Amino acid sequence: MERENALEIVKEQLTEHRYQHTLGVMETAIQLAKRYNEDVKKAELAAIFHDYAKFRSKDEMKQIIIDQHMSSDLLIHNTELWHAPVGAYLVKTEVGIEDEEILDAIRYHTSGREKMTLLEKIIFVADYIEPGRQFPGVEEVREAAKKNLDLALIYSLRNTIMFLAKKNQVIYPETILTYNSVIFENKGGI
Ligand SMILES: [Fe+2]
Ligand SMILES: [Fe+2]
Repeated sequence: MERENALEIVKEQLTEHRYQHTLGVMETAIQLAKRYNEDVKKAELAAIFHDYAKFRSKDEMKQIIIDQHMSSDLLIHNTELWHAPVGAYLVKTEVGIEDEEILDAIRYHTSGREKMTLLEKIIFVADYIEPGRQFPGVEEVREAAKKNLDLALIYSLRNTIMFLAKKNQVIYPETILTYNSVIFENKGGI
């Protein structure tokens, strides 16, 4: 699918603000794909569709999670997590994208997962550091992403985990598993 066509489809699903975010993720994902030798076209498409389900109602997302037998763990955690797996499902069924690597990058862009693929890491990090993002710690992740994608991933996961812990909020187990997995991949340190 060509970029213009994909953007037209996704624009209808998003607010203007979220569409601008999506363009930022797309540009960032393309840069990272070139830097780390990933398929640029796949990175572009995964980025364009990563937030496809962001504005679906909670009721619709909940029903899809139940009907499609997605992890029931999702339902007891923050609803912000839902649009990622539901998005992967809808991008397949409504848009017709069948590439499982692209769908997985959408599916795991919020929680991460153990043993993430390069494409999944690129979308996760691009979502975190795209130019429109402004929050404490983002610059450190941007700098890390220029040299070492895993380091950027560790910093972004650490920020997320610490942000939640400081507010006494629950941390989704997959996020902790992702953090440990990247540390293990790098044999305990980078
Ligand atoms: Fe998202
Ligand atoms: Fe996003």
